[in-house]
This record gives sequence, C-alpha cells and structure tokens, in this order.
Amino acid sequence: MVARAQNFVCQSCGAASARWAGRCDACGAWNTLVEEGAATQARGSRKGRLFVIEPLKGQSLEAPRLASGVAEFDRVTGGGLVRGSVLLLGGDPGIGKSTLLIEVAAAYTRRGQRAVYISGEEAVAQVRLRAERLGLAEAAVELAAETAVEDIVATLSHGKPPQLLVIDSIQTMWTQTVDSAPGTVTQVRGAAGELIRFAKRSGTSVILVGHVTKDGQIAGPRVVEHMVDAVLSFEGEGSQQFRILRAIKNRFGPTDEIGVFEMTGSGLREVANPSELFLSERELGSPGTAVFAGIEGTRPLLVEIQALVAPTSLGTPRRAVVGWDPSRLSMVLAVLEAHCGVRLSGHDVYLNVAGGLRIAEPAADVAAAAALVSSLAHASLPADAVYFGEVSLSGAVRPVAQTAARLKEAQKLGFGRAIVPDAARTEALQGFALSTIGTLSELVADVACDRKPPLRRVGGQDAE
Ligand code: TYD
Ligand code: MG
Repeated sequence: MVARAQNFVCQSCGAASARWAGRCDACGAWNTLVEEGAATQARGSRKGRLFVIEPLKGQSLEAPRLASGVAEFDRVTGGGLVRGSVLLLGGDPGIGKSTLLIEVAAAYTRRGQRAVYISGEEAVAQVRLRAERLGLAEAAVELAAETAVEDIVATLSHGKPPQLLVIDSIQTMWTQTVDSAPGTVTQVRGAAGELIRFAKRSGTSVILVGHVTKDGQIAGPRVVEHMVDAVLSFEGEGSQQFRILRAIKNRFGPTDEIGVFEMTGSGLREVANPSELFLSERELGSPGTAVFAGIEGTRPLLVEIQALVAPTSLGTPRRAVVGWDPSRLSMVLAVLEAHCGVRLSGHDVYLNVAGGLRIAEPAADVAAAAALVSSLAHASLPADAVYFGEVSLSGAVRPVAQTAARLKEAQKLGFGRAIVPDAARTEALQGFALSTIGTLSELVADVACDRKPPLRRVGGQDAE
C-alpha cells in the first residue's frame, strides 16, 4: 500500500501538504506546490536487524582526508575531501562549476586516485571537449553521461570504488524509488539520498553540483543542503574574471575560508594572492574609496570599499549596499550622525565592496566610515593607507583580531600606513606608519579637515 496522504510538495522548501494551495504554508513562497508521487511505502512490520556498535576510540584504517592539490579548493574544504563525505557545489549556470570540478577530478587522478565524473547535462564528447580546452585531455578521469542513480551506484559498486565521484548535476538525476519527474524536490531528495548512502557505504567522496535559482537558493533541493556534509557556493560577477569559492556549511571544516580563482581562456587559474587582484583596478585619488585590510578565514585580504554620498531628491533617502551588511551600514551612519556631527539624513548613500566580494567582518566599519566621509567631503583619502577597526554605538573604535596579519599584508602590497584602533599600536611594523584613532570622530576630523589636526602617529616615518 502506498501512503498518499501528503503528496503536494513545495518546490522551494520541500514541505509536504495534503492539499494544493497557492501559497506554501511553510516558507510563504507562491505557486510552488506540485503534486508528486509519494516515496514512502508502508513497509509493514519488520524485525530489526542487528548491527555492530563500535567504541569511539577505534582506529580508522585510511587517511580521513584527501587533498586534491588544487590549493584554493583544498583550503575551502578544510584540507581536502573527507572520505565518504558528500559535498554540494552550488552556483549560477555558466559560472564555472563543471570547469572547476573537471579540474579537481583531474588533480585527484594526478595523485593516483580514481575519479569518476558523471554528467547528466552534457554528452561525454562535450565533457571531453572542455577537458581538451583545459589541457586535461590526458588526465585519467573516468567519464559517463548517465542520469539513473541506481545504474550509477550499481556500476560503481562493481570492483574497487573510486575515491571521488562528481555528479553534474543533482537536478538531472532520477531514482526509480520515486515516481516524480527529474528535477522535482522529491526526485532530487531521493537521488541525493541514494548517492549519500553510496558514499557512506563505499568511502567514496561525492560532489553534487546544484543549480541556483534567481533568488540565490540552491534550486529546489534546499532540502539537500541539510542532507550533505558540506555546501560550497561558487560565485562571481558575470562580467568579471574572478570567481570565489565559499563554504556555506561544512561538517568537517571551517566556513569562513574562501578560494579565489580567475576564469581564463584555458580554464580556472588559482589566485594565490587575491589582494593584488581585488586592488588591481583601483582608481587612485578619487574621493569615496578606502582600502579595507580584512581577513577571510585565515588569510588577510585587502579590498576597496567605495561609497557615494549625494544629496537626495526623495523624501526618504536611499541606502543601498552591495557586499556588506545593510544593518551595519545603518549603524555606521547613525554613529556618524549622533557622535561625529556628520549629517547624512538628506543624502542618498551607496556603498559597494569592489570586485564582487562579500565582507562579513565588523572590522570594516572604520573603512566604510572613511569612504562615506571622504565622499561627502569630496576629500580623497591617502592612496597608500589602509583602514580597519570596529565601531561601537558610542562612537568608540574597538580593536579587532589579527592586526599583525592585516598590517603585514598591507605592507607587502606597498601600502605605507594604516588607520587603526588604539590597541593596534603594539603591532607597529618597521617602516610602516600607524595612525591610531580612539573614536570615529577623530577619523572624521582627519578626513574632512584635510587631515588636520594630525592624528597621533606611532612608528614609521611621519607622513605629514
Ligand atoms: P561551466 O563550467 O560550463 O559552467 P557551469 O557548469 O557552472 O554551468 O563554464 C562555462 C563558462 O565558463 C562559459 O561561459 C565559458 C567559460 N569558460 C572559460 O572562460 N574558459 C574555459 O576554459 C572554460 C572551460 C569555460
Ligand atoms: Mg555545468
């Protein structure tokens, strides 16, 4: 007997309901409920099977992680793929997911591992063509164009299982246990479940490719995000060459690391020093830009923060921000108004993090404030300065972590000074000027009054 009680499934969140409705009760999305065949078979009563319970302090025979040798990929996964783990890679169509994964698969085979690439979207010849273009035609990656999960699992269970299995993409896969169309939530969930069971059983690391919808969700299978061990997203601006690999969830590693790649005519190039890339198109000397010395994961990263402050023609001024948290922008604006005498309520404010990067650190407060005041006052900031520090609601500038790493990166890239919280004075570097600020109003005075009165300076040559 098949349980048919709940067979309308929301294609956005996966919630099931007994009746069709225009709006999903669970997530509020409109027109997403689709009737799907139920997968749950009433199994009748079954006697439990006995299984072995092991002590925690047992020994696992093989190395738990396999690094690919693609450093940016390994960094984001936390040092390589964990055996038997399942990773979901999301990203817009055309961003380079297939390119990245064929390169990673090739890298594994170069290390003597067996890697299988199953494409449900392209024919074997197309995958080959791409590999040729990437100069990987000789790589020992095994290919197939398949969409039936049971066939894939049966084939790979024959003989020694591969170390890596790439499924491109999970939306094209289908399993016989579910009678819905491929691409529906139930199918995707069923197919993913089947592949996850295969991974755990065989020790093969599985990478599932997932498409992303217009609103940035990994399409349909948001449910899959909860089933897999790690979720990575591959991002980038269509017009720009760099691509950022970011961990959204990782059961076996950090989620704050990013990997940076550049899309070239011959595939993805790893970018070992992303600061250079993000600062490469900087317009020196234009008001409203400040360089933020940030940290992404364990790596320092310099990025340009751009602000435009212009008188508004609307009753309610606009606040638009790309790449940063809008509520932090509101907070910095409020502190500028309340404690620094900077009137912004009659101005539209736009803030942008250059290069399509997203920053989550509060340490960007000072850099954002510097860019805003610089734009408002039409006073450009010194081209050789970097900024960082967290701003509190009282207007004080608070210390942030990893000051030394930020300063070293700035010095390495040819910057000569940094505007930093007071506490950072202990980290002064030889030949690098530190201007310490205790409150945001000191920064505002410095920017708006053409850098007078001078800031307290510590170490280095005085640049005045
Ligand atoms: P692809 O990996 O097919 O994207 P996805 O799998 O995420 O849909 O990449 C497609 C894009 O990448 C396409 O616009 C062409 C571009 N590209 C290059 O610029 N250089 C290359 O070497 C390759 C293989 C692709
Ligand atoms: Mg693809």
